[in-house]
Amino acid sequence: MRENDPLAAFWMPFTANRAYKALPRQLAAAKDMLYWDVAGNRILDGTSGLWCSNAGHCRAPIVEAISKTAATMDFGPTFQLGHPLAFELATRVAELMPDGLDRIFFTNSGSESVDTALKIALAVQRSRGQGTRTRLIGRERGYHGTGFGGISVGGIVNNRRWWQGLPGVDHLPHTHDLARNAFTKDFPAHGVELADDLERLVTLHGAETIAAVIVEPMAGSTGVLIPPVGYLQRLRDICTKHGIILIFDEVITAYGRVGGATAAGTWGVTPDIITMAKGLTNAAVPMGAVAVSRTIHDDVVNNAADGIELFHGYTYSGHPVACAAGLATLDLYRDEGLFDKADELGAYWADAAHSLRGKPHIIDIRTIGLVAGIELEPRPGAPAKRATELFHACFDNGLLVRATGDIIALSPPLILEKAHIDEMFGKIGELLEAID
Ligand SMILES: Cc1ncc(COP(=O)(O)O)c(C=O)c1O
Repeated sequence: MRENDPLAAFWMPFTANRAYKALPRQLAAAKDMLYWDVAGNRILDGTSGLWCSNAGHCRAPIVEAISKTAATMDFGPTFQLGHPLAFELATRVAELMPDGLDRIFFTNSGSESVDTALKIALAVQRSRGQGTRTRLIGRERGYHGTGFGGISVGGIVNNRRWWQGLPGVDHLPHTHDLARNAFTKDFPAHGVELADDLERLVTLHGAETIAAVIVEPMAGSTGVLIPPVGYLQRLRDICTKHGIILIFDEVITAYGRVGGATAAGTWGVTPDIITMAKGLTNAAVPMGAVAVSRTIHDDVVNNAADGIELFHGYTYSGHPVACAAGLATLDLYRDEGLFDKADELGAYWADAAHSLRGKPHIIDIRTIGLVAGIELEPRPGAPAKRATELFHACFDNGLLVRATGDIIALSPPLILEKAHIDEMFGKIGELLEAID
C-alpha cells in the first residue's frame, strides 16, 4: 500500500525522525564550499558534509573518475581475485601513512574500519601466542561507529545503554577538562596524567589479558576533544611497555583535518594500526581502510596455516568505483596542497573562532587544525536544546554546522578561504545573540 507521506519510509539514521519529518530540511545540490537546499537556498558548508568532503563537493576529477570506472568495471570481487585499482590505492594510502604502517585493508565505512582493526588486533595477539589477550580498551566519550565492536569500545552513553556490547571491555577516562583547559588553542596544557590510567587498568586486569587500546587522536563526534600535551605519546609508551596494540581511530582526523595525511604523522606519535574512512574518497563513494604495521600483518599472515590467513572481509572491500574515487581524491589533495591548509589558515581560523569568546552562552572554544568546537552552556533541564536550535538557526541562515550535545563542531572543506571563515564565525556570533 502506498502512503501519502513521501518522508515516511526512510527511517533516518541518528535523527530525531519525528521532529525532522515535522520540519524537514533537505539538501539538493553541492559544489565546492556550498550546498543548496531543495528550495534553492545557498548554504555554506562548515562541516565538510559530515567531516568527510575534505576537498569540497562535486570535484570534477573525482566525478570523472567515478563515472569512467562505473562504465568500465562496475564491480569486481576482491575475494580470491583482484583488480589493479585496489592495489594501486593501497600503495598510495600506504605512502601517506607513518613509517611502517604500510599494509592496507579496505572497508566501506568508519564503523567497519574499527571492527576490522579490533579483529586484527585480536588476531595478531593470537598469532603471537598471546591468545589470553582478548580485552579491548576504549575511552569515555570515544566514538568508534555503530558496529558491536565500535559501540563496545566507544564511550557514548546512548550508544551503549541500548545494546549489550562485547564482554571484556574497559575504558580510559576522557580528557575533556573545562575547569583547567577552557579556551585553549591547539593542545590543552593539562591532562597528560590521564593516560596513566592505562597503567591502572593493566594492574587491575593484567597485561596478559589486554589486546588493544583504541582512541581517536582527537575525538570529533563527541565535540572536538583535543588531546592534552604529551597524552598520546604517554599512551604509546605504556602500550609498548605492556605489549598492547595501539589503534588510532583517524576516521575524522586523517586526510588533512589537522594538517598532514594523519594526526599520527602530524603529531609525531605512531600507533600500530590506523583506521580511516570519510576523507579517503572525499565521501563521494563510501569507503574505509585500515592501515596496519607491517609487523602485525606479517605476524598474522606468516604464522597462519595454508589458506585464508585472516578470516575477514566485505563484498565491497576495494570496490573499483570507490578505489577510483580514492585515487582521484588523493591526487587532488596532493595537487592542491590541501594537507597544508591547516597550517596556512590555522592561525586565522583559530583567531576567528576565539573572537566569539564573550558571546552569550559560550563556555568554551577550542581549536586545532581546521576544526573548532564551541561549547554552549546547556539550558537547565534541556541538554542539547540550545545547540540544536543554533544548528537550525544556522541552517536557516545559510550555514551548515554540526551540533553534538551542546557543542557546535566546525570542520570545513580544506579549500576554504578567509572570507568563508569570516562568514562562518560572523553568522554564528550573530545567531548566538538571537537564541535564548
Ligand atoms: C572516529 C570515528 N570512528 C568511526 C566512525 C564511524 O564511521 P561511519 O559512520 O562511516 O561508520 C566515525 C564517524 O563519525 C568517527 O568519527
